[in-house]
Amino acid sequence: MAPMKGFTDHLFRSAFADHFGGFDLAVAPFIASKRDQRIKRKYVKDVLPENNTRMPVVPQILSKSAADFIVLANYLYDLGYHTVNWNLGCPSPMVANKKRGSGMLPYTDRIKTFLDKVIHEIHGSLSIKVRLGWKENTDIFRLLPVIDQYPLSEIIIHPRTGLQRYEGSVDLDAFEDCLAAIRHPVVYNGDIRTVSDFRRLSQRFNRVHAWMIGRWCLADPFLPGSIITGTDDIPDKIYRMQRFHEALFEAYSGVLDGPSHVLNKMKGLWRYFSLPFEDCSKTMKKIKKTRRPDKYLELVNLFFETEARLRSEHPGGRAIGTY
Ligand SMILES: Cc1cc2nc3c(=O)[nH]c(=O)nc-3n(C[C@H](O)[C@H](O)[C@H](O)COP(=O)(O)O)c2cc1C
Repeated sequence: MAPMKGFTDHLFRSAFADHFGGFDLAVAPFIASKRDQRIKRKYVKDVLPENNTRMPVVPQILSKSAADFIVLANYLYDLGYHTVNWNLGCPSPMVANKKRGSGMLPYTDRIKTFLDKVIHEIHGSLSIKVRLGWKENTDIFRLLPVIDQYPLSEIIIHPRTGLQRYEGSVDLDAFEDCLAAIRHPVVYNGDIRTVSDFRRLSQRFNRVHAWMIGRWCLADPFLPGSIITGTDDIPDKIYRMQRFHEALFEAYSGVLDGPSHVLNKMKGLWRYFSLPFEDCSKTMKKIKKTRRPDKYLELVNLFFETEARLRSEHPGGRAIGTY
């Protein structure tokens, strides 16, 4: 499971594992490194082992300071995480303009200096998540010969530039060139929306060692399982989605401070949950407007029940993709 800040937190990951499964592990959304040498447990709450009993997790760190990275990576090592992932992909201007995330990709020398320090001082191993570049899709080709010299556990590549954010298409030819230039295990990430996308990509890139899915496992939570079993003939999809939604609502109600925070969280998730449903914009507007949890649940349950009925009356008629 790809890291998605604001979405794939430990409550989401646990509920996902309970209701759908299909993932071997998740990379957790980034934790920014801190100047502070003393890290509090609360700061790394999302990856505390007691919060991650359902799905194995690799913590991710966002940082441009080797010293700060080392402190956090070693703290995570002491919690039991023997691999940490370095975020060199975040496209958010707030991050990238400070030469962090994908904003660091044009600066091969800085990355080299960072790795020279970090590799010897972290107790565990390091994996890296990258894009092709910040503005240009060529940054990576300066970088790969350099990072290939370090003992990394794997490199996760999302073949877009930072400037593209999540728009436009993934550059599969550039990804193919990356594969040829790295000896480390490579993980492919980007736009795997359906089982047939996965088949096409896995046939073309048979050297890829693992596959990472982000947005499309929120839009179609059955996707990872379908990829593994090779079938998307799964009964009661809407009913199972409804149960998953209930579990999330309950989990967030238990930890978030007040109904408005819970509703904001749930409404955010609908950005992806609503994608497989055609013509649902009116209902989504109503769901987004509501400020009362009881009204919200009533609307959502009505939505699921209507969808289930429509699908049983017109099988295949309203679904897109595999869901
Ligand atoms: C809302 C959102 C938050 C994200 N947060 C992170 C993050 O914390 N760390 C990271 O490496 N990538 C993050 N990403 C990027 C995803 O991990 C992934 O690379 C991207 O969504 C492409 O994969 P997909 O097409 O399967 O979604 C985020 C993406 C989105 C849309």
